[in-house]
Amino acid sequence: SDRYSLLVLPGDGIGPEVMAEVTKVIDWFGTNRGMSFDISHGLVGGSSYDAHGTPLTDETMARAQAVDAVLLGAVGGPAYDNLDFSVKPERGLLRLRKEMDLYANLRPAQCFDALADFSSLKREVVAGLDILIVRELTSGVYFGEPRGIHSDDNNPDNEGGRVGINTQRYTSGEIRRVARSAFELARRRSNRVCSMEKANVMESGILWREEVQWVHDNEYPDVGLTHMYADNGAMQLVRRPQQFDVIVTDNLFGDILSDAAAMLTGSLGMLPSASLGAPMANGRPKALYEPVHGSAPDIAGQGKANPIACILSFAMALRYSFDRGDAAVELERAVERVLADGVRTADLMGPEGGTPVTTAQMGDRIVAALSQG
Ligand code: NAD
Ligand code: IPM
Ligand code: MN
Repeated sequence: SDRYSLLVLPGDGIGPEVMAEVTKVIDWFGTNRGMSFDISHGLVGGSSYDAHGTPLTDETMARAQAVDAVLLGAVGGPAYDNLDFSVKPERGLLRLRKEMDLYANLRPAQCFDALADFSSLKREVVAGLDILIVRELTSGVYFGEPRGIHSDDNNPDNEGGRVGINTQRYTSGEIRRVARSAFELARRRSNRVCSMEKANVMESGILWREEVQWVHDNEYPDVGLTHMYADNGAMQLVRRPQQFDVIVTDNLFGDILSDAAAMLTGSLGMLPSASLGAPMANGRPKALYEPVHGSAPDIAGQGKANPIACILSFAMALRYSFDRGDAAVELERAVERVLADGVRTADLMGPEGGTPVTTAQMGDRIVAALSQG
């Protein structure tokens, strides 16, 4: 049988709540589909800070580098808002992404038919929607130097006397490799890529556009490529999202555009993601699977969180790390059937109301749907 190593990092807030449901799904695939998982657990974010004074220990970082896949819940929360920047929960997640070199963050947004009436957009705008945002994840303004908060004492006109600095910086190599990921994925879908930047105001945007075009012309001339300014892209995403197949964009634009895309599917609690590095010697990429949403402090500890984003992130692990596209489809269909049966967590309640199920009940229903086949 196939044997895989998994590092599970539940994190903070609703992270552990949704991860508990993923664990049920993993157990189901182990018992019923001849896959065996070596699962280890670790701390990340505020929970790691509480135990170790750092949002990610070197030991956990080393384990993440060694496993076949990492599953992460979510990090952050108000209890950690006033920590020093260097030990904030989010730094733990950013370190994982950077040191594992997970440059391609795949954020699919699919509108399940059962939820088409629940999106804040009209049914005809979102029904059948299936787009994929490929977000660059290890560079750009998230990591560029110089950065920091400094005193601006030499500038008498600056009231308050401080300056905050971040740097948007991309190398051609960083752009080319994420562009290749987008073109490869497009070939297995509808074969169209739309690249988004702001080449009208940023030099890094000009480089982005030129390098994506270069990769296209030299390596993927068969794929349709268009370019769009990211602000127009945000508008087009809510105006007529079905015009898109694959969107490739930088770290910050990708963060914002993917949260916007969440509302096309009905809820942020629906959006999974895969953060992938370059293929290793075994042909598989280093990988971290994480829902797009955060720790949702407003609903944490109440059994209200939707576990589907995290469960669908595990489906992406089945597809991209374990070569089990068949099992991924099986899991995605089980989720679809449960939604079609009208099972809803609180975030999926329309204006007509109804009785929501808890996080655990949603997980149980998905496992039951898997068993019913
Ligand atoms: P958030 O994604 O945590 O929540 C935004 C809204 O969506 C909230 O109203 C929340 O209740 C709702 N929501 C999110 N996930 C849900 C789910 N699974 N089911 C039902 N409702 C859900 O974003 P925020 O409030 O801006 O951030 C809270 C904390 O999470 C911050 O510390 C932030 O830095 C962190 N964060 C972490 C990640 C991550 O770990 N990958 C991602 C985003 C934000
Ligand atoms: C995300 C989050 C993270 C990001 C934060 C928590 C570092 O918003 O995964 O979308 O900005 O990348
Ligand atoms: Mn985000």
